[in-house]
Amino acid sequence: MAQQNTLHLRGGGTSVLVDRTTPGVPAIVHWGPDLGDLADDVLDDIARGVRPQRVSGGLDETGRLTLLPQEAFGWQGTPALLGSRLSGGTAGSDFSSALVMTALEATASALRLTAQDPATRLRLDLEVDVTPTGLVAVRATLTNEGDADYEVQDLGLTLPLPASAREVADTTGRHLRERHPQRHPLSVGRYVRESRRGRPGSDATLLLLAGEPGFGFERGLVHGVHLAWSGNHSLSVERSQNAPSALRAAELLAPGEVVLRPGASYSTPVAFGSWGRGLNELSSRFHEHLRRRPQHPSADRPVTLNTWEAVYFEQDLAHLTRLADLAARVGVERFVLDDGWFSSRRDDTAGLGDWTVSPEVWPDGLAPLVDHVTGLGMQFGLWVEPEMVNPDSDLARAHPDWILQARGVWPASARQQQVLDLSNEEAFDHILRALDALLGEYAISYLKWDHNRDLVEGGSTVTGRSAVHENTLAVYRLMDELKRRHPGLEIESCASGGSRVDLGVIEHTDRVWASDTNDPLERLTIQKYTGLLLPPELIGAHIGAPHAHTTGRHHTLPFRAGVALFGHLGVEWDLASASADELGDLTAWISLYREWRDDIATGALVHADLADDTMDLRGVVARDGSRALFVYAQTASAQSHPTGRLTFPGLDAAATYRVEPLAHPASATGVGQSPLGWRDGVVSTGAALHEIGLQAPVLLPETLAVITVTRVGEATP
Ligand code: DGJ
Repeated sequence: MAQQNTLHLRGGGTSVLVDRTTPGVPAIVHWGPDLGDLADDVLDDIARGVRPQRVSGGLDETGRLTLLPQEAFGWQGTPALLGSRLSGGTAGSDFSSALVMTALEATASALRLTAQDPATRLRLDLEVDVTPTGLVAVRATLTNEGDADYEVQDLGLTLPLPASAREVADTTGRHLRERHPQRHPLSVGRYVRESRRGRPGSDATLLLLAGEPGFGFERGLVHGVHLAWSGNHSLSVERSQNAPSALRAAELLAPGEVVLRPGASYSTPVAFGSWGRGLNELSSRFHEHLRRRPQHPSADRPVTLNTWEAVYFEQDLAHLTRLADLAARVGVERFVLDDGWFSSRRDDTAGLGDWTVSPEVWPDGLAPLVDHVTGLGMQFGLWVEPEMVNPDSDLARAHPDWILQARGVWPASARQQQVLDLSNEEAFDHILRALDALLGEYAISYLKWDHNRDLVEGGSTVTGRSAVHENTLAVYRLMDELKRRHPGLEIESCASGGSRVDLGVIEHTDRVWASDTNDPLERLTIQKYTGLLLPPELIGAHIGAPHAHTTGRHHTLPFRAGVALFGHLGVEWDLASASADELGDLTAWISLYREWRDDIATGALVHADLADDTMDLRGVVARDGSRALFVYAQTASAQSHPTGRLTFPGLDAAATYRVEPLAHPASATGVGQSPLGWRDGVVSTGAALHEIGLQAPVLLPETLAVITVTRVGEATP
């Protein structure tokens, strides 16, 4: 039987067309909207229709953007693989591979191919999957089939872009201000976002996006790539004069970090590509993909109280007991004791690494607090920072060689701490034993797992080589082993706030801490762009004190609570300082969250594209479409007076809905001088609510309205 030249992989509304006739390995000729059932000859014609011509000044066969672009086949942009032999003849040889497909297996939604090069004695296995939610997942494994060492410098995964992708967007940030968007036109050349911090970092972009100019959350074809990895990595987009533009994702390897002995392999992390007509669709593919995992946390996310901004290092049993009482009273379900409970850790200068309860602060151990918290019906959680060590600690004094370093001296310090080399089995076992003992002794159902510094000079004294790659794998292993030994344990990925947010760590954890700022104004942007990748139930969002500790701004409780609703809700506020009225209102907000949390954790998260940047409308639409919850926030003074319209995305166009502002606990009618036309509710269709919308209530800057939408029937035809 003749072999099919063009493969059509499909899943979740996504088509991937693969031309297997290209030199070396196949090329993706389309990745995006589902093209429907196509006959083999039509598929072949589509692929034939995009073959490039030979041109003057170029190679005799124009290079193709294959799944593995290689110089040997005329590719002159960024190649898939950089590497060379270190020994066994000339060092630096085998720098150019000509990997040719030798085996291919395909199903309706996946392909597995092997490519080999007898000259360089390399083999590459490539996996491409179109997931049931329409993501494209790609991973490569390179094997050294030669008899001398081969150094891998760079192995990237490439996904082509459609011709309409003319604008690039990503995010940047810093501590307390993660994931703020930036954009620019896609011009010829290569735009690269690198993370060299040993963790993604506060400036890392979760996704590198390219789409039609002006693409938004609701409109414009847009494609994006993410690398499921918590170590160094690079995301790039390249536009050239003689090939389609492409996204590329790769682990960033230090010199000598991955040297393959004969027979050894290196596997890349998985690169995930998503696309959508607008970012709502692009991100929903990630959300639904994560929600289908067997280990995805349950929808009834426990309302959490974290003690950090309530007491910082001032841990006192009487005060914390009182805090726990108040927490239970307002509806908190999980109480997390933050930094400061162990060894000499009275501030951030000492103690990291010594994971035993401080007899000074906790003379009777943690049991009095744990028992009190669990006695109130709440879960108990504990802060740890297992990868870190203060030089002023027993661990650093006993094992200075367990600290990551490159030149026989410790690297530059950050937050007075250094990083343990968990690729060193002795260090790994020591930390595993310490954490295991704590989890065995106390009823701890949750670890807030922190990581408070960037890595620099991350070398291992065992191998003498860079060990960021191995440490990234080691921390995943450590988390998995603790979860294996303590079934039901949940882990939060925190790293100076939101510096370790990625699909690598989320395979081993249950939520992320999006940022150390609890200021709701900052949080609106941080949560919006963290939500491009993660669904709300995986994003920790806390109601802070009226006065934001990180910015000095004051906000009302409705503004703080309304912004925290679309996340995994928590409280980070010394409730002993709250008034009776505030506690009453907080109770109402928490019960509002509890009423909606199932929809927040299972429904579609949507953001509206509105004409005025000071108007932020976001919501969740229940999975069955029966109801939706929206929050409209006025982030600064509006451009128009009265304010413009709210147009509601994500509703069923044909259904009729009752829309009303929620009076309690939110204040929705604002400061307009006559009543809002829909103050007492209005009935409209999904189509009208999206195309025409409703007049926005006139709100003061930095206030918000909560709006409920309830389906009351189908539209009459
Ligand atoms: C950084 C975290 O992001 C904070 O929430 C807090 O846990 C501190 N570390 C504690 O040191």
